[in-house]
Amino acid sequence: MGRAFVYVILGGGVAAGYAALEFTKKGVSPGELCIISEESVAPYERPALSKGFLLPEAPARLPSFHTCVGLNEERLTTKWYNEHGIELVLGTRVKSVDVKRKTLLTATGETISYKILVVATGARALKLEEFGVNVLEAENVCYLRDLADASKLVNVMQSCVGGNAVVIGGGYIGMECAASLVINKINVTMVFPEDHCMPRLFTTKIADYYEDYYKGKGVKFVKGTVLTSFEFDSSGKVTAVNLKDGTRVPADLVVVGIGIRPNTSLFEGQLSIEKGGIKVNGKMQASNSSVYAVGDVAAFPVKLFGEIRRLEHVDSARRTARHAVNAIVEPEKTDDFDYLPFFYSRVFGLSWQFYGDNAGEIVHFGDYSGKSFGAYWVKDGLLVGSFLEGGNKEEYEALAKATRLKPSVENLTDLENKGLSFSVEI
Ligand code: FDA
Ligand code: NAD
Repeated sequence: MGRAFVYVILGGGVAAGYAALEFTKKGVSPGELCIISEESVAPYERPALSKGFLLPEAPARLPSFHTCVGLNEERLTTKWYNEHGIELVLGTRVKSVDVKRKTLLTATGETISYKILVVATGARALKLEEFGVNVLEAENVCYLRDLADASKLVNVMQSCVGGNAVVIGGGYIGMECAASLVINKINVTMVFPEDHCMPRLFTTKIADYYEDYYKGKGVKFVKGTVLTSFEFDSSGKVTAVNLKDGTRVPADLVVVGIGIRPNTSLFEGQLSIEKGGIKVNGKMQASNSSVYAVGDVAAFPVKLFGEIRRLEHVDSARRTARHAVNAIVEPEKTDDFDYLPFFYSRVFGLSWQFYGDNAGEIVHFGDYSGKSFGAYWVKDGLLVGSFLEGGNKEEYEALAKATRLKPSVENLTDLENKGLSFSVEI
């Protein structure tokens, strides 16, 4: 015999926190909701881990960044969950799920049953071993997905001020960690296989701007190659990395950000999987109608593009979570999710936002030697995506509004000349 709840949220990350807040706003009664999380702390705003958490001066520490401060909502500490009668089962991994019987089995041997399950298991960082590189659990090789990873990174950083770091991967983690390492007075070399950073989103022109900026801060780039092996000292610490192109880079610290895999394994063979995630409908409901999926693990229909997408960003985690709860509690009042994808990053004094889809033809605008510039993506004669560095609140809002409207673009040169004012005037 185990415990029984009306609602169970599986996973205790960003989406879980926002779902919990929404459940209380919708009047869920004490004792009806349970959150089960492998992490030992209440849900927090994960983006802080590569930014404020890594600062050398006045770093962000819990409880300051528990959800839901990211959207200027309440900060949900453990006390808040207690006061709202929400059962927070922390430090507990769910080992298996039986969606037909509506039960979960935890690693501590407890069976928990539900009427409705919200899957918010997020994703795990890909490991170098999966690419055939032996890491031997070295104490100075760091990944960054959760608080434990971030704490390890801070410790290693503090032990090698003035030393050398190698950052493997030119994506979000690589770029944000490289900036944090520089701020911590560590020399950084970035290594990635593509010919420019942020290949999933940036154009070469956009990437050049950031790479030049980083070079100005002393960061070195080794592009178009991958790591083949590490060199270790007698204590098992990495001392250098060897690259496929023959380069050897000395290292006191290695940060690895080579992508993620959604945590779907509990549901394989039980739910439909698409684009690597749990396939849901516009209500965030999976192929079993008692199961909803939200956040990084959910593959949901993006109406605007007429396509199923899986997004790996915090805004999508927050909003899919809220939408699922609305669809669960007030199904008749809840339409299909209609989301405009939104990504952002902040590094050094820079800050950019992106809306929509980076598909089709690209039109760059603004001053790429200055502080504010951007790009539009135009597909089948319609504006479908937009990027802006260095904008203000009104400009970002204008960009979001224009991208959602998908206005037609007759002439790409006109669009280039108009630049930001094209969006502002809509
Ligand atoms: P999330 O990963 O937050 O939570 C999943 C939870 O499920 C975890 O608590 C995990 O332990 C738990 N779990 C998984 N399997 C389990 C099991 N079997 N049993 C129990 N618990 C289990 N995005 C953005 O838009 N802007 C940004 O600046 C950043 N910055 C950023 C920095 C860093 C360091 C990371 C790692 C990520 C970002 N992101 C981001 C991405 C953003 O944080 C991400 O999209 C959300 O955290 C996704 O929220 P989820 O709740 O889906 O997963
Ligand atoms: P990513 O997908 O952004 O980037 C992965 C990078 O790894 C690629 O760009 C590539 O350069 C590199 N790579 C791939 N295979 C490699 C190999 N064998 N050797 C060396 N490099 C290789 O993933 P990430 O940077 O690891 O980020 C992890 C997750 O965290 C993502 O979901 C991301 O969206 C999220 N995140 C988001 C933000 C943000 O939105 N601002 C910030 C941090 C993290």
